[in-house]
Amino acid sequence: MEKRRQYEFPRFLHHWYLVIFTLALLATAQAFDYGDALAKSLLYFESQRSGRLPYNQRVTWRDHSGLTDGLEQGVDLVGGYYDAGDHVKFGLPMAFTVTMLSWGVIEYGEQIAAAGEYEHALEAIKWGTDYFIKAHTSPNVLWGEVGDGDTDHYCWQRPEDMTTSRQAYKIDENNTGSDLAGETAAAMAAASIVFRKANPHYSHLLLHHAQQLFEFGDKYRGKYDSSIGVVKNYYTSVSGYKDELLWAALWLYKATDRVDYLKYVINNAHCFGGIGWAITEFSWDVKYAGVQIIASKLLMEGRHEHKEHSHVLEQYRSKAEYYLCACLNKTISANVDRTPGGLLYIRQWNNMQYVSTAAFLLTVYSDYLKHSGQKLSCPAGEVEHQEILKYAKSQVDYILGSNPMGMSYLVGYGPKSPRRVHHRGASIVSYRENKGFIGCTQGYDNWYGRDEPNPNIVVGALVGGPDWQDNFRDQRGNYMQTEACTYNTAPLVGIFAKLHQLQLQLGEHKLSRTPSFFASY
Ligand SMILES: *[C@@H]1O[C@H](CO)[C@@H](O)[C@H](O)[C@H]1NC(C)=O
Ligand SMILES: *[C@@H]1O[C@H](CO)[C@@H](O)[C@H](O)[C@H]1NC(C)=O
Repeated sequence: MEKRRQYEFPRFLHHWYLVIFTLALLATAQAFDYGDALAKSLLYFESQRSGRLPYNQRVTWRDHSGLTDGLEQGVDLVGGYYDAGDHVKFGLPMAFTVTMLSWGVIEYGEQIAAAGEYEHALEAIKWGTDYFIKAHTSPNVLWGEVGDGDTDHYCWQRPEDMTTSRQAYKIDENNTGSDLAGETAAAMAAASIVFRKANPHYSHLLLHHAQQLFEFGDKYRGKYDSSIGVVKNYYTSVSGYKDELLWAALWLYKATDRVDYLKYVINNAHCFGGIGWAITEFSWDVKYAGVQIIASKLLMEGRHEHKEHSHVLEQYRSKAEYYLCACLNKTISANVDRTPGGLLYIRQWNNMQYVSTAAFLLTVYSDYLKHSGQKLSCPAGEVEHQEILKYAKSQVDYILGSNPMGMSYLVGYGPKSPRRVHHRGASIVSYRENKGFIGCTQGYDNWYGRDEPNPNIVVGALVGGPDWQDNFRDQRGNYMQTEACTYNTAPLVGIFAKLHQLQLQLGEHKLSRTPSFFASY
């Protein structure tokens, strides 16, 4: 409580306080090239492509793969993304990746365009949504996985040589999967907003699929891992499907403005845990914090139809604030752990996924507060929007090299980044260079165990990252730290664009010496 006093500046000083704060925010320590990071983050999605690669494919160490996916089941499932360093196409994390990419474009599309990356961002989303359209073969059928982790992990092969099972798995009325259907609906609804102007026909098509998928998931309720058993050791839905149903309804509300969807989020707020769960993790599995933050934004917008539900929206907001305050170390007792170097630390296996999602939620919330002229109230004091952004930036800067190891965890960015990423395709000679077949165990014998760096660089991949003491071992077998996933990088796209724009504005300010930027920020 005492601390709050020091922020009570006289009115005329307040503006200059913001000026200095913003200067400090942008000028501290190392300067990173966020534009370069943005371009690289989008390149990463090309290295994860499955299917027939287009003529303008920029990641040239990759080639066509998985061209018969779905054939055995009589359905065309060619395309989509490999989630990480293996070749299974897992529907749930793929959909979450596309939702986060789309959310980034919805919030920071202008900044992405200003950096010249808008087309690439849309292509990254469309590579996923084109696949979801194929996988949603009838209103109540969604194909949710191709290949299986167990057989895939026996092999260390390039995707172009793949000899493992390509069995496809689906959910339907009798084999429910509301989490998978819900997340895929959220992804397609969010993407429909992205494509509204650029491609109205496609946008409409996505929305149609999203609405059907949501209805399917809501009507036939159940967890997808009971229907697609092979997913269990890889992407079990621990949090169940209720968060995804709220998440889907909220994205559909944003995409359609239809009050039914809003009512769903309001009426199910309590029984689906939307206003009950205060969780410090936002991930491919657990969507509550995302739901709560979008619901808070509705409240801040102050539209008539939201005022009517302000009581429930306030409860969503209180849980959103819990998440944000815990990330900011501003609760009394339940803060998220940090490494000595300052990185948010949730758990040892692929911790970076939680860092990038937290940085995203903090960044968008900072913007929402700024636009509504509000502050975040935490148990340990009020927080201004600039301070929230500053904290998000500290996490991004840690990722890019401001850390005790002095390395970037975004592969291919900066002078030092992981060179032995746990990634089948990257660790074996490129198919374009050597088309000789490399078998299942041959890959393990000749490539996996090598001490040398990978021959191909998975540029833009965000690896699992360091342990709780900021230590990182760059070894292929150390998959908890050196594997990268599409949903690690996806939330970074929008943040990089935002920071890139701030950097440009600061540069212009220096040139022109006008205070306009600070006045607007
Ligand atoms: C679901 O099960 C019922 C009863 O066994 C069957 O009639 C129906 O065709 C099944 N639906 C699907 C989509 O497989
Ligand atoms: C988090 O807050 C606690 C309590 O105010 C403080 O002791 C601790 O140093 C803070 N941690 C960091 C990393 O700022």
